[in-house]
Amino acid sequence: MADSAGIASFLEGLGCVQVESESQADLIIINTCAIREKAEQKLYSYLGELVDFKKNLPYLKIGIIGCVASYRKQEMLKRFEYISFVSGARDERTTFLTYLADVIVQLQTEKQFFSATALVDDVATVVPLERDVKAAMSERNAIIPARLIKEGSQAAMGGTLAPVGEVKRSFINITTGCNNYCTFCIVPFTRGKETSYPLEDIVLRVTHEVAAGAKEITLIGQNVNSYTCPETGARFAALLEAVAQIPGEFWVRYVSPHPKDMTRDVLEAMARYPEKLCAWCHFPLQSGSSRILELMNRTYTKEEYLAQVALIRALVPGVSLSTDIIVGFPGETHEEYLETREVSAQVGFDMAYSFVYSRRKYTKAYSMGDTCSAEEKAGRLADLQEVLRAGSLVAAQRYVGKNLRVLVEKRGANGKLLARSSGNHRVVFDGDALLIGTFVEVHVVEAGQSELRGELISSPLMIFSEHGLAA
Ligand code: 5AD
Ligand code: SF4
Repeated sequence: MADSAGIASFLEGLGCVQVESESQADLIIINTCAIREKAEQKLYSYLGELVDFKKNLPYLKIGIIGCVASYRKQEMLKRFEYISFVSGARDERTTFLTYLADVIVQLQTEKQFFSATALVDDVATVVPLERDVKAAMSERNAIIPARLIKEGSQAAMGGTLAPVGEVKRSFINITTGCNNYCTFCIVPFTRGKETSYPLEDIVLRVTHEVAAGAKEITLIGQNVNSYTCPETGARFAALLEAVAQIPGEFWVRYVSPHPKDMTRDVLEAMARYPEKLCAWCHFPLQSGSSRILELMNRTYTKEEYLAQVALIRALVPGVSLSTDIIVGFPGETHEEYLETREVSAQVGFDMAYSFVYSRRKYTKAYSMGDTCSAEEKAGRLADLQEVLRAGSLVAAQRYVGKNLRVLVEKRGANGKLLARSSGNHRVVFDGDALLIGTFVEVHVVEAGQSELRGELISSPLMIFSEHGLAA
């Protein structure tokens, strides 16, 4: 999301506008995920759907970026003739954005040749662009203007998403890449080595986003809490503190931390600034079996994970916890799965993402022997999800009868307002659309499977009306 938002902001800076559907677009950029095979398959079927758009609009440019682009670049260029460019997640961002600026200029030029009357014969004569961004740029001997270098590094840090009628949320990359090499994970191969952006740049960026109206800032990194400022050596707790001290009314979240880097000072910073730093921690468990955790190279045991959970709960009042869990890692026995089940029930996560292990090229687990059938794995996932659902329902019930401060995000399809609490719970209630983008107080009356239902008790509109400013 941070990468997409960064590119969208950059393109808007060049005068582009976002459209609602592919049929209205001159440029389509697909940001891809390689984490599981399913995500990749979705990409290929989506690419198939785009063929017709390209046929109808010869000057349409379609590009692929992100993690799949990192490791399947040549294959994609060969297989999908109608793709204009492919740029991987590891590729130098400024070069890519300069290229993109070039694409926009070409688009403007080409569009002129494709007015309704000129379309007939010209279709076949469109000269395809050089499609590997790096090669294209070096062949052109392009000199990248200083302005673009600056904007490029800004865009690499993320950007804002604010669809019409919704709250403004900013996603800011504070680190990219990962050095952890969890044995199931392709990310270190698609995103490269971990690097952190300077603390000063991040603080400037957040200040700018808040001034531009962002109400929620999400600090992003593959291993966000191993952040180390390249200039001063400041760690993640210092960054959180610096961001929390920026004036304004906004919330800060971060994803995804690694349990091994969850130090006490991070939790203490969260406790010190509850107004800004959300009482929510996404805390990936992956497995509840210490043997599997070791095979996964997660570097913590079941007991250490549980001790960390206890510390988070002790230090951050009212914290809510979410997690990621994988079932069916190579060699996982039924007993080991039951440990995952047991730990999940014991923790009682507010929310959880759970997956069947997906075998990824390049990873160490790729060549580990697998003993468990696909049916067995699906059974484990279904069973685990039941436990997780029951746990989050119990966890949600602790809010019933309480008042929660929430950030109103948008109006849902059912007419209700959709908001989110500091603990990242979805909260729905009746209210005026003017409240979107504001913080309001809601009384929780019911806890459901996926959301809390509440009633509005105080909002900025009510303050206005108390002073006679609103009808
Ligand atoms: N198979 C299944 N799930 C995976 N994840 C990462 N790699 C794989 C894989 N090969 C999950 C992890 C991670 C989340 C983002 O995706 O749980 O935390
Ligand atoms: Fe992948 Fe592990 Fe890095 Fe997360 S910490 S991105 S799971 S290698």
